[in-house]
Amino acid sequence: LISDKKIVAIKSVNYIEDGMIVGLGSGSTVNQMLYALGQRINEGLKVKCIPASKKTERLAKDLNIPLTDFSKVSKIDLTIDGADEVDGDLNLIKGGGGSLVREKVVAIASDKVIIIVDHTKEVQKLGQIPIPIEIIPFGWRMTSRYLEELGADVTLRKVAGKRFVSDNGNYIVDCKFDDILAVNELNKVIKQTVGVVETGLFIEVVSKLLSAKNGQVKIIDKITMEDL
Ligand code: 5RP
Repeated sequence: LISDKKIVAIKSVNYIEDGMIVGLGSGSTVNQMLYALGQRINEGLKVKCIPASKKTERLAKDLNIPLTDFSKVSKIDLTIDGADEVDGDLNLIKGGGGSLVREKVVAIASDKVIIIVDHTKEVQKLGQIPIPIEIIPFGWRMTSRYLEELGADVTLRKVAGKRFVSDNGNYIVDCKFDDILAVNELNKVIKQTVGVVETGLFIEVVSKLLSAKNGQVKIIDKITMEDL
């Protein structure tokens, strides 16, 4: 039986066209996408890719996926990434894998962003899980206190008992807010907090969602002003 993650991953690479600059997100769903992309490249597809994490970069290299960087390109045509939560407006919580800063840099530089998930990531309202927030190590206790003052239950992320360190040399705090009234406003106040590098809230960056349940893929397009 093929997993739903693999099914959406395979489907997503159909959106990649010859000549594109492609942003590669990270996580286990994206890893499945990389295998499918590697296969298309073997069959002759010509693309250049920008990875959003060191892990993705390593796997992409292993699969002979050609890479580039922002010194050579000034925009990305299409990014494919996963998510930890997605709501009905296609806003996201990301950062389960701790790569949210680079993922956001890549997503914001992209004309189109496709998010691939299994249906368990779909929520009515964002915030069922804590929001990952990347903060600089210096003064992290102070930054955590400021985030607590915003109403968060703050946990410094640890892996195997050690403080998790991001690809950028920073820490991640997972911040659980009880009830998020306005996700956009919350994102703004978190970003204004000194010591915060970036939040795992991805608002208004997604163009298309592919979500799989029991082998069936649902496709949801972001409604744009032109559609109205
Ligand atoms: C990493 C992410 C991932 O996209 C997110 O955690 C989903 O991961 P997975 O595909 O393994 O479920 O945001 O920072």
